[in-house]
Amino acid sequence: MEKKKKHSLLFICLGNICRSPAAEGVMKAKVHAAGLDADYYIDSAGIGDWHVGQLPDSRMRERASLRGYRLNSRARQIRVEDFADFDMLLVMDRENYRIVTSKAPNDEARKKVCMLTDYLSIHKGTDVVPDPYYGDLSDFDYALDLIEDACEGLLEMY
Ligand code: 4NP
Repeated sequence: MEKKKKHSLLFICLGNICRSPAAEGVMKAKVHAAGLDADYYIDSAGIGDWHVGQLPDSRMRERASLRGYRLNSRARQIRVEDFADFDMLLVMDRENYRIVTSKAPNDEARKKVCMLTDYLSIHKGTDVVPDPYYGDLSDFDYALDLIEDACEGLLEMY
């Protein structure tokens, strides 16, 4: 990882091909638009290793590109060093939370894990970003709606 920046955020989902790479791309775009590139290190990772090395799912890439986001990260699996390297590990749903916190090496690391939905404002009260992988395009659009909302909140609060 490059030299520590003021803020470092790792977005995590199950496969690292739908939700978390979308959150990475959206957050990077918002940070860039705010002129804050120098302050943020942003990455994403998956709990599983099934899609390691792959670009995001073509449906997510297409739906995100309609909103002006280019998603071109490559999937990787979370590693124990992520708990030290990042200030926040933002997960998409309760199952992600359960698994990621179970991998935390200590209490300090466990406290870095939080739900992306905690930063929602327009969709406040929604408690998960549902997995769109087995859904249709509207599920990808809905995931992007939530991700854009939460990333806006993250930028304001953090
Ligand atoms: P993601 O979606 O966690 O948002 O990347 C998924 C992608 C792939 C699988 C599950 C969820 N999968 O089982 O392969």
